Amino acid sequence: MSRYTKKRYNIHDVVPGMEVADLVLTEDGKVALSEGATLNFSNIERLKYWGVTSLMIKGPIEPGPELPNEPMGPLNQQQQKFFQKYDMAVHAIRNAFQNMRYFKEVPIQEMQELAEQAIEPLVETVGVVNHLQMAPREDDYTFHHSINVAVMSGVLGKWLGYNSEEVKELILAGLLHDIGKTQVPLEILNKPGKLTAEEMQVMRSHSTLGYQLVRSIQQVTPAVSYAVLQHHERMDGSGYPLQVKADKIHPYARIVAVADIYDAMTSDRVYTNKTSPFSVAEMLVQEMFNKLDPNICTIFLNNVRDFFLGSIVKLSDGRKAEVIYLGQFTGSRPVVRTDEGEFIDLEKRKDIGILNLESRQG
Ligand SMILES: [Fe+2]
Repeated sequence: MSRYTKKRYNIHDVVPGMEVADLVLTEDGKVALSEGATLNFSNIERLKYWGVTSLMIKGPIEPGPELPNEPMGPLNQQQQKFFQKYDMAVHAIRNAFQNMRYFKEVPIQEMQELAEQAIEPLVETVGVVNHLQMAPREDDYTFHHSINVAVMSGVLGKWLGYNSEEVKELILAGLLHDIGKTQVPLEILNKPGKLTAEEMQVMRSHSTLGYQLVRSIQQVTPAVSYAVLQHHERMDGSGYPLQVKADKIHPYARIVAVADIYDAMTSDRVYTNKTSPFSVAEMLVQEMFNKLDPNICTIFLNNVRDFFLGSIVKLSDGRKAEVIYLGQFTGSRPVVRTDEGEFIDLEKRKDIGILNLESRQG
């Protein structure tokens, strides 16, 4: 069982997705919320209306014994704040997804609020790509994945020069892209082994099912619906459900596709294995050549590269070093300067790898 910490929060600091640790009473002694209840936008408003000023909230799971072994650098305050907000968003999407499975209705207002109030601030955080990769993943994959794709779709939209309204739409598209999975039987969705051809077909129907769930919702623009429908289509026509090509794929769907695959790769130990977001982005571009929008990929790589320059990394030989140069070509490894002042061209020293990103200067 997970062990939770408890902490008292001011009513103005609580956010949807938080779990109530102790019974909440109104001034006149009425039960406002019971222990274990999950906060959402409407019950928070209700608590404020009733004059509740503070409440006990379940904190993050206490670090288990495995955590100190993680070769993760010291978390700075900004990163911790990011993780906290991220964790809340994952809780909120979990509740929404679980409700959707039974009610077959998208809580669109909640999703919009989640996009604007929780995800948008994450998108605006400096170093968001790195924070996202380092964020602890404690919940089911689907919930983390939806939040990560929402964040990355927003980040990509910003980098591509979309305006703030469009970035909001992209975030919503990321949040909703896999909601069709709420209509896929749990035994298929959570099957640990390989799926049979038939099960794969059911799984793949999630983009169409998702489209059917959102297409008639007034607040969901056609662009967002297309992103849901087409996020598995590929530029070379090898995707699904309709196997459309290049310009038949909506730009939002192409963005969500990059965010989707990038997150699948960063969640996969085979790829991440303590590599930097930059390496994962590079691998994505190499592996998905012809399948993803090259313009989005290039902007993605360049921006992650900019961020990666100047960062402090831990080398496989245990030393710390600063990334001072990145080659122009995809796949090239950086030049680093160690704490002792030694310059190492990792392109030439293939025996040394980068274990992880420790921090970023400045
Ligand atoms: Fe999907």
